[in-house]
Amino acid sequence: MNVKMDGKMKTIIEPFRIKSVETLKQTTLEERKKYLTQAGLNTFLISSENVLIDLLTDSGTGAMSTEQWAAVMRGDESYAGSPSFYRFEKAVQDITGHNEVIPTHQGRACERILFTTLAKKGDFVVSNMLFDTTRANAQAAGCQVKDIPCPELASPMTPADFKGNIDLEKLESFLKENSEKTSFVVSTITNNSGGGQPVSMANLKATRELCTRYKVPLMIDACRFAENAIFIKRREKGYEDKTPTQIAREVFDLADVISISAKKDGMANMGGILAMKNPQWAQDCRNNLILTEGFPTYGGLSGRDLEAIAVGLYEALDEAYLNYRIRTAQYMGDQLMKADIPIVNPPGGHAIYIDAKGFLPHIPPQQFPGQSLVANLYQLAGIRAVEIGSVMFGSLDQSGAEVPHSQELVRLAFPRRTYTQAHFDYVIEALIELRKTSKSMKGVRFTYRPEVLRHFTARFEWVD
Ligand code: F0G
Repeated sequence: MNVKMDGKMKTIIEPFRIKSVETLKQTTLEERKKYLTQAGLNTFLISSENVLIDLLTDSGTGAMSTEQWAAVMRGDESYAGSPSFYRFEKAVQDITGHNEVIPTHQGRACERILFTTLAKKGDFVVSNMLFDTTRANAQAAGCQVKDIPCPELASPMTPADFKGNIDLEKLESFLKENSEKTSFVVSTITNNSGGGQPVSMANLKATRELCTRYKVPLMIDACRFAENAIFIKRREKGYEDKTPTQIAREVFDLADVISISAKKDGMANMGGILAMKNPQWAQDCRNNLILTEGFPTYGGLSGRDLEAIAVGLYEALDEAYLNYRIRTAQYMGDQLMKADIPIVNPPGGHAIYIDAKGFLPHIPPQQFPGQSLVANLYQLAGIRAVEIGSVMFGSLDQSGAEVPHSQELVRLAFPRRTYTQAHFDYVIEALIELRKTSKSMKGVRFTYRPEVLRHFTARFEWVD
């Protein structure tokens, strides 16, 4: 019997069943207050044992399938020329169409290798929006970075189909002036720092055209290439009848270089993929890789990891899985909006982003409303989220005063295939509860402020 009842049944079911479970530890309010204080109000510094539902990131935190675990058993740990590498290489070539495939231990290693090998010091790296590690690696390689997101992104609550797009007019005028001094144009799909928003095929094609015209290479940061593909299928004319695999391939064809953190749509717990078409560039990158990652056929990974990724890349493109994935985010978004909780709308593929400025309008950006919301959510319900706002992206002016970021977001990221619908209902309930007491919530101030990537290790105290 055909049990496909799409459109008739409304209940979202996980398209998998559970074979192995991990017990979640319950904590009391008093315990959570203590853990939070010990962690300097920074949930990165809390032991994950004391977190009930961990939505800190969707990176490397997903559950692997039985097929992936079976593949792990095939892992060959030879230092050079492992068959696990060749299976990995074949899967990446098959899905991306790029022949030169370089494994790394994770996405940021791809970024470091790429920028230190192929970008010129003093040059620009221009993007719809760089993720924090991509930005930091471009800067560490001596580049200047520039984000030119589309104007729709500036209105978090106003829906638009492809808020991840780059602003093409601004890109063109920038390249007209600066193409000689631009090492890469980067399209981040989906735009993680900007709300997990997808980039349209039309925008990617137009970006490609500008890159060709102005002779600047296009890098696609494709961590969430499968989620971006399902959004194109759902929202862009002409793609309704294509499979996510076909759409992803059409996207990859546009790039000169692809960087993927396999911890996202690679469905693996560790790994990164650098893929490109130019053999000379690849050779230069491999020579750089050997310095820090290892031999080019393992690149910082075990054979077991390579096997898990080779299977996971295909599983990420499964349409039933992708439909469930984006419906979960949409469901949570709908429930929160019904309760007047301001979110980036529409929800992205891998996360819900709460607009902390709207949730806590009485807390000024200099007192980090996003960080306050993250700390309060953990304290109330044991849920861990992450601030994407002035803690992560703020800077200091010459007098040492904080210059806030344009957005104050809190991200609730969904590990892949890990939590059930009931877990998501619990998160919704917790946020609705929190909303009731939001007026009494306090801002926070730094007690330790690291100079770079400060959200990871910063410490805070409540502002009275
Ligand atoms: N690019 C994007 C768009 C990312 O979201 C990430 C990681 C990276 C690059 C770097 O990859 O972690 O494997 O080194 N994002 C994680 C997150 C950390 O929580 O969103 P990595």
